[in-house]
Amino acid sequence: DAKTYFSTELLAWYRLQKRDLPWRQNQDPYRVWVSEIMLQQTRVDTVIPYYQAFMAQFPSVQALAEAPEEEVLKRWEGLGYYSRARNLQAGAKMVMEQYGGVIPDSHEAVSGLRGVGPYTSGAIMSIAFNRPYPAVDGNVMRVLSRYFCLEDDIAKPATRVGIEKLAVTLIPEGAAGDFNQALMELGALVCTPKSPGCLTCPVMEHCAGRIAGKETVLPIKTKA
Ligand code: ADE
Repeated sequence: DAKTYFSTELLAWYRLQKRDLPWRQNQDPYRVWVSEIMLQQTRVDTVIPYYQAFMAQFPSVQALAEAPEEEVLKRWEGLGYYSRARNLQAGAKMVMEQYGGVIPDSHEAVSGLRGVGPYTSGAIMSIAFNRPYPAVDGNVMRVLSRYFCLEDDIAKPATRVGIEKLAVTLIPEGAAGDFNQALMELGALVCTPKSPGCLTCPVMEHCAGRIAGKETVLPIKTKA
């Protein structure tokens, strides 16, 4: 069916086409955490050098937890949204105090860390631990709205919840991390906001939005 086709083709495409990004070198949960926080409001190309410098200076949860705050903020200079850096360090201190410095393989525990919302917890659980949790950000909402021709307003929390429920059902057995990153990668490289590259899309054949001629009007998003 259209769901199995989507999951299978997208995963195969990702494994062949994925970009070689520094946070994809291994599945260390700390590395995944830092990268996902940086990537929340900042583009991949901008993040790469910041990520490398940050990991060189703060290579572990402990190193980050013990660093003076001004050094952490200095490493963040230029990325903006400094509360992300403060929350990340506060989260690192929580991991030291509550979990002995080891990021726990627990969705509930990870979700309780400072600065970790539903998207970030899903990304950490899936990418670092390969657990089948959704990681739905704006890119993923766009991809799934188009493929399934969903016309609900993605600005509404209920729509996001619905898309998260759908996303879980798409995760192939044992491949949560790759599949969630495949969704992000398709949104970044092919299923882009303004002129989607349907001709090179691995799932175009069964894309309901494309079939309906709505690929450029979806997703529906009210207000700013
Ligand atoms: N955007 C958010 N998370 C990402 C990831 N892991 N890889 C590439 N882009 C992303």
